[in-house]
Amino acid sequence: MSGETIGVRVPGRVNLIGEWIDFSGGTVLPMPIRSEIRLTRTPNGTDTDYIQSAEFSDEVQVGIHAPAARDWTDAIRGALQAARVMDWIEGGQDVTVRSDIPVGQGLSSSAATIVATLKACRPAHASDDVALAQAARRVENEFMGVPCGIMDQMAVAVGRRGQVLALDTRDCSYELVPIPEDWEIVVIQSGVRRELADGSYKARQMECQQAMDALGTADLCQADPAQFAGLDGAVAKRVRHVWSEGQRSLAAVAALKARDRAAFGALMQASHVSLRDDMEVSVPVIDRIVEDAVALGAAGARITGAGFGGCVVALVAPESVHTWWAALKARHPRIERAD
Ligand code: GLA
Repeated sequence: MSGETIGVRVPGRVNLIGEWIDFSGGTVLPMPIRSEIRLTRTPNGTDTDYIQSAEFSDEVQVGIHAPAARDWTDAIRGALQAARVMDWIEGGQDVTVRSDIPVGQGLSSSAATIVATLKACRPAHASDDVALAQAARRVENEFMGVPCGIMDQMAVAVGRRGQVLALDTRDCSYELVPIPEDWEIVVIQSGVRRELADGSYKARQMECQQAMDALGTADLCQADPAQFAGLDGAVAKRVRHVWSEGQRSLAAVAALKARDRAAFGALMQASHVSLRDDMEVSVPVIDRIVEDAVALGAAGARITGAGFGGCVVALVAPESVHTWWAALKARHPRIERAD
């Protein structure tokens, strides 16, 4: 027996500021980008899921209880399994995916895929997008083994184009703040790809977890910095990043509401320095793009997402964006816009 086909569209996201603090009580400021995933789901009345992506030629057939395969299908399989556990769907499903969200570029293609799959599965009574984002995070944490926070899933599940999601990750309360008309957010693909499942995300997250365990708090962003005195080495640096980024992102919410582009840009700059020197998640190619973006006139620029490659986000005056981009592209021919 097969059933009705449900189609959904979910965007990728870029994070303006508030990096590496969404599992330690921070406020983060992501927003959706234009690229999106389009997904359809049809019940097929069997015990097998059939997954087909326009980007990967072969259809994948997989038993409905199969474990993670460590490939592109995991986000969909994990979400389908979660949907079956929640009694949202029954049995095997045919899923088709078409996405223009660049993969491995820090734009949340994985969270968008999970959220899209869950949205295509949920019944009318399960309309709470925050609960759906939390379910999506569990898929990433438990099925895919990536110990990420809640930012990406919330950004793509509840975010709106042209608005910043000022999200308090302690309780998922949020505000949607419009981007001022005289701000242009430019997302720059560096061309350096990274994988979250490759261990580097986990390693950094574990260092933050060690600090939280040592200090007896999950809210590093709200901790008293006097408590950090006994920490040393890498853990001390990570804590310095997390705490200072927590302060910067709160200041950024105020700068956004005050439409103060220069202040917001300066906070992005400081965030990049901290991600480079204390969190140690930047790479030289990205450092050079960030430096040149600002030297050529951006109010601010920083690495965005988990890091280790991926994208730079820059804040630019709309009237100068064309000349600014041309000059930046002349210095870095491999870069592409992804906003
Ligand atoms: C990845 C994770 C998020 C967040 C960022 C870093 O995108 O999925 O939860 O931790 O890295 O800010």
